[in-house]
Amino acid sequence: MRVLLTGHQGYLGTVMAPVLTAAGHEVVGLDSGLFADCVLGPRPADPSGHRVDLRDVTAEHVAGVDAVIHLAALSNDPLGSLAPDLTYDINHHASVRLARLAREAGVKRFLYASTCSVYGAAGGGDLVGEDAPLRPVTPYAESKVRVEDDLHALADGDFTPVYMRNATAFGYSPRLRADIVLNNLVGHALLSGEVLVLSDGTPGGRWCTPPTSRGPSRPR
Ligand SMILES: NC(=O)c1ccc[n+]([C@@H]2O[C@H](COP(=O)([O-])OP(=O)(O)OC[C@H]3O[C@@H](n4cnc5c(N)ncnc54)[C@H](O)[C@@H]3O)[C@@H](O)[C@H]2O)c1
Repeated sequence: MRVLLTGHQGYLGTVMAPVLTAAGHEVVGLDSGLFADCVLGPRPADPSGHRVDLRDVTAEHVAGVDAVIHLAALSNDPLGSLAPDLTYDINHHASVRLARLAREAGVKRFLYASTCSVYGAAGGGDLVGEDAPLRPVTPYAESKVRVEDDLHALADGDFTPVYMRNATAFGYSPRLRADIVLNNLVGHALLSGEVLVLSDGTPGGRWCTPPTSRGPSRPR
């Protein structure tokens, strides 16, 4: 299939593109390039792609495409909370616009990178299933819930959106994210010899200011 992979120059997209190519798909990227030059290790061989802001996508970008995998987003809680309107513009409105354009162009498959953060503070300590109520607690998570709702309304016999409510990824990517929890713990442990928990550990939890001196009061 000819696959439009948005966010192909991000943490996950950089790893996903070669996997899709190896599986025999033709990958076309789409990314504004926020992290294009943030490379750790050898520079990855990115697929050809469009350097465009998601908010400026046109019908041309989805013409001739069989499937869209939509990863591009402002993708963490502190960033999303910094400018919630921007988060909703990019993560919600532009994503739904992309889906509409794809549907009009006859694209059948639309895989959307949602997040397990849509469950928010589920409480109770029980495992949650796919049908659990959604309780987003940050603009980032709320933006993902809104996209899921709007994609659902677009679904029909010819257009099949799928939501991937992924948990937090970890591990190496040529475009590494050091803000996500396990990478952050490992990075800090490697660099300082100590494991430092930056948040209070709850979903959408408060972020603590990293301590400037070593001592027993350091949050762990
Ligand atoms: N990494 C995780 O643990 C995780 C977990 C659950 C869900 N997700 C979701 O998966 C997707 C990919 O996550 P990631 O970790 O690779 O994030 P990332 O921040 O590394 O990559 C996001 C990419 O989107 C691009 N982008 C941002 N704004 C854009 C815009 N306006 N126009 C075009 N491109 C834009 C960035 O340039 C970047 O390359 C995101 O939607 C994220 O919410 C990630």
